[in-house]
Formats: sequence, structure tokens, C-alpha cells
Amino acid sequence: MRVVSLNEYTDAQLRRLCARIGLASRVDEVCSVVTDLLGPAGTRALTDPPLWRSDVADDHTPLEYSVAFEQDGSATLRLLVECVARKPNPRSNLRAGLAALNRLAERYPLSTDRLEAVRDLFLPDDPRGLFSLWFSIVVTAADLRVKVYLNPEVRGAHRAPGLVSEGLHRLGLGEGFRTLTEHTARPGSTLDRFSFFALDLDDTPRSRVKVYQSHDRCSVRDLRRSAAACGDADDTQLTEFGALVGGLDCYEGRPLVSSHTFLGGQAEPSGFSLYLPVRDYVRDDAVALARTRALLVRHGLDHTALDRVVDAVRDRPLESGPGLIAHVSLRMGRPRPGVTVYLSAEAYGGTADAGARVGAA
Ligand code: TRP
Repeated sequence: MRVVSLNEYTDAQLRRLCARIGLASRVDEVCSVVTDLLGPAGTRALTDPPLWRSDVADDHTPLEYSVAFEQDGSATLRLLVECVARKPNPRSNLRAGLAALNRLAERYPLSTDRLEAVRDLFLPDDPRGLFSLWFSIVVTAADLRVKVYLNPEVRGAHRAPGLVSEGLHRLGLGEGFRTLTEHTARPGSTLDRFSFFALDLDDTPRSRVKVYQSHDRCSVRDLRRSAAACGDADDTQLTEFGALVGGLDCYEGRPLVSSHTFLGGQAEPSGFSLYLPVRDYVRDDAVALARTRALLVRHGLDHTALDRVVDAVRDRPLESGPGLIAHVSLRMGRPRPGVTVYLSAEAYGGTADAGARVGAA
């Protein structure tokens, strides 16, 4: 049998995905960006183990797809990618990521001012934690944009609140940090922790700073406090989202994740999103798909597009287990309310292995 590389596998998925959500005109561009970012991880045969146990996806594929369903019927494709060095370790992966960022900046009009302002905080020479720099490539019919995810725990878990505080201060959002603190989901608890700090690398009124928190053993009800930091968040929608997608009172498996969006330097979060790791709470992807479809219908979004994208990515029957639909999220407020569905590439079989969570393979 012919040996398939990760690049070939994800190229085929991307071609199907783009074709099915009206982004066919962008597919060559998207594939070339992904190939560039995947680097040595992409040219490797899929019969070999992943070069690095990336935390991007359960099976360590360093790429995850997501599709944001918009109210106007359009869909945005996004790719989450971790750059892996030829000889991967936390330092060399960061160097590979920074080199890839330079290449992206030659190709696209990126604005890296805000990243530069927090770079020494979040990108130290000796990064710790599960990752230091992830990319999100955001593809619409109009353009291709870049976002970076930084890790608040990159200097150790205990320093995460300090890094987020200092990062927001440097970006002129010190008041925003106070708002987050006042709206901690469960005050005094160590079960809520800062997990991602994200920056849009463009300089427009719509460019965002996003702060994510992961909430272990949490209920959706517990997150009302946190959501209330954003004037446009709606408790009823939040509760309904939890009931439709997760259906549990308390999520004891993978944590619920929330994010607050800061737009235009304003201290009040313009948006609040909740991400539910549905794969941990369903028997299989047929169930995950049915629940996600119900959510889209509830919000008047195009559920037929969901069926098309799931079909574009899957390489197995949905009934064979969970994992293809990794997270489902509800976005409230600005810039755009809606639903986003996260899909695993499952290039390495989809399920988590029993080994270490991240590290060299
Ligand atoms: N795989 C990790 C997780 O499930 C990180 C991650 C990837 C993630 N995509 C995400 C976390 C979407 C929240 C939402 O936690």
C-alpha cells in the first residue's frame, strides 16, 4: 500500500472542506500555508508515530479544523496548528513557530505590535507547559487572517494569573483584568485557570485580545458569573447550550473552557464564548452530530453545512466512537455571535494514546 504523509492526508480533507463551504477559491493558498506550518511533521508518513505529542488534538495531530457558522449563512474555516521542529522539544518548537511567523509576515500584512508588547512574558527562552505558540489561520472568501495562541502557564502554572494580568496591562487592558477577576467563575477555587491568551495579528477595529479559562469539574450554571462580565451574554442561551450539547449538571471529564473577548481596547469584554468538549460526554460522533445539529437549528444556523463539513473530514463511521467533533462552542456578543464546531483531523486514528500527554514521540 502507498504510504500517505500527513500533508497528503490533510490536503485531501482541506480540499473537501473548502469545496463544501464555499471556499474552493482559497484551497490552494490554504494548503500551502498549512504545509509550510506543519514543516517536518507534515512530510512524515502517517504510518510513523507523530513527531511530537501535540496537545492540539487527542491523537497528537498538530492540526485541528473548526468551522464558525455565521448568522448570514456563511461559514468561516479556521485551522489550529502547532509548528513542530525537526528535532522537537519545547524550545525548538518555539523557534520553529517564530520562524514560521516571519514567513507568514512576508506573505500577509500581519500586525505584530501587540505580540511584540507581550513577547518577553509569554515566549521565554525555556518554555514550560503543553505548548508555547499555536497559530490559528482564519479563512473566509474575502481573506486569510492569522491569530496566535500563547500559553499563560509557559512559566509554570502558578504564574499564569500574573502573566495574564501583565499582558493585559501592557495592551492597555488593565481594567479588563480587574473585570475578569471580579467575575471569576468560582471565587477562591483553584479549579478555574487561565489556559490561553490569544491575539489577532491584524490591526483593525475588529482585532481582538482573547483570554481563555479552563474550568475543571464545573457546571454551566457556575459560569454565569463569568459570562456576566460581558453585557451581551445571555444566561438563557448559555443554559440551553449546555442542555442541548452536554446535558450534564457537572462536567467531570475534560473541562469546560470559556473566553472573554476584548475589542478596541475596551475594558468591558465585548464577547463571551463557552466551549464544551463534547467528545468526552457522548457515546459516539453520531450523538455529537445530532446534538450539534439541534443547536444550529435552535440558533437558525445552516445545519446542512454542518453535515457537509463532518462528511468532508471523517474517515470512519460516526458510530464507531467519539472524537471527530472535539468541541462545540457558543459565541455571544461582538464581534459575531454564533456557533463554532471543532473537528479533529484524526490523522493518527483519533483517540488519545495511553502515553504522556505531550512530549517527543
Ligand atoms: N486539544 C486541547 C483541548 O482539547 C486544546 C484545544 C484545541 C482546545 N482546540 C480547542 C481547547 C478548542 C478549547 C477549545 O483542550
